[in-house]
Amino acid sequence: MEPRRILLAITGGIAAYKVPELVRSLGRAGHDVSCAMTASATRFVSPLALQTLTGAPVRQDLFDPSEEGEIDHIRLADWADLVIVAPATANVLGRMCHGLADDLVSAVLLATRAPILVAPAMNVNMWSHPATRANLETLAQRGVRRVGPGAGELACGWEGEGRMAEPEEIAAEAELLLGSKTLEGETVLVTAGGTSEPIDAVRSITNRSSGKMGFALAEEAACRGARVILVAGVTALATPAGVERQDVSSALEMREAVLGRLEDASIVIKAAAVADFRPEVREESKIKKESLESASGITLRLVTNPDILAEVCARKGDRLVVGFAAESENVVPAARRKIERKGCDLMVANDISRSDAGFGVDTNAVYLLTPDGEVEELPLSSKRVVAAHVLDRVEKLRSERRG
Ligand SMILES: Cc1cc2nc3c(=O)[nH]c(=O)nc-3n(C[C@H](O)[C@H](O)[C@H](O)COP(=O)(O)O)c2cc1C
Repeated sequence: MEPRRILLAITGGIAAYKVPELVRSLGRAGHDVSCAMTASATRFVSPLALQTLTGAPVRQDLFDPSEEGEIDHIRLADWADLVIVAPATANVLGRMCHGLADDLVSAVLLATRAPILVAPAMNVNMWSHPATRANLETLAQRGVRRVGPGAGELACGWEGEGRMAEPEEIAAEAELLLGSKTLEGETVLVTAGGTSEPIDAVRSITNRSSGKMGFALAEEAACRGARVILVAGVTALATPAGVERQDVSSALEMREAVLGRLEDASIVIKAAAVADFRPEVREESKIKKESLESASGITLRLVTNPDILAEVCARKGDRLVVGFAAESENVVPAARRKIERKGCDLMVANDISRSDAGFGVDTNAVYLLTPDGEVEELPLSSKRVVAAHVLDRVEKLRSERRG
């Protein structure tokens, strides 16, 4: 990874004592690290220690007279490729949420266009307070990334969630966020989430897909510099930073959206769990319980939905197309048949019978299959790490194709 500029914003929590270790981890990876601190943070860790480790002055004052002719918070905000807030106090999360800017750290956080990674650390009751939860939700919706906190013994004497993520974990998350701009110039069309096939005005048939795998792919592709179009089915997830999102509900709507955006895309990743069938008839009004009772039940006739992946492959041209196969048995042979039938460039197969992989969870264990018979098994990892592997393979296929 090429060296990048990281602004480390330190706020006033006891976990600030771990920040020198984080500075060293980021420095070891070759990054150029600069620190900004709140007034409270200086009570927990010495600016001198951070200045010595970074070799750069530590910024604390919004009205610093030494920065002649420059507005320091704007300069810092523009300078950074990534801003990490560690530890992130309950206070700073609330201030970020409300757009306050009355000290150097909060002004930088409001002014920067760089991605922001927060590493919250606080007492378990502060962490679980509805105000903190609501602030985090708002920040996530704005694309602010979070790492941790973990659970365990807290400095305040309580046990529970609120421990700042370990410095190595924060540094690893920063690497993922920074990425290298290897997909610059590409437009990646990603589908994610389940579909909802209407039965009547209020009821539908859906599946348990959370959309997490597709959203992780969209986020990773955006971090790698691609323009990303995310066609999202049924999901509760927030849009990742820098991603263009189009919401759909049924398989037919997803087909229309995907084929409508296909012209723009150079890479298509179909991670959505699209229903194979839909009710043949959608009742306009709600089916009355009484009518079901008098008929002692109803029969729903299902018809086949269009195969969007096959349609995309049929029109693929120079595009790279990645399909997903969610299988509950004979995962690799089933995925092999699927790649042969559909004609995509890469098939990602997951075993949905596992409780730690596939639908709903944050981790996945997958096989990557190519049309020439190659099978690569990826161990159980976070969906973001799996997304990084999938995109590494996509980049490799792209460079092989370009010769
Ligand atoms: C000893 C001590 C430890 C503290 N630890 C935390 C903490 O871990 N997390 C937190 O959110 N606030 C903590 N606080 C409270 C913050 O320091 C306080 O909310 C402060 O206003 C935060 O300012 P800042 O966000 O501008 O840095 C602590 C306060 C004290 C006195």
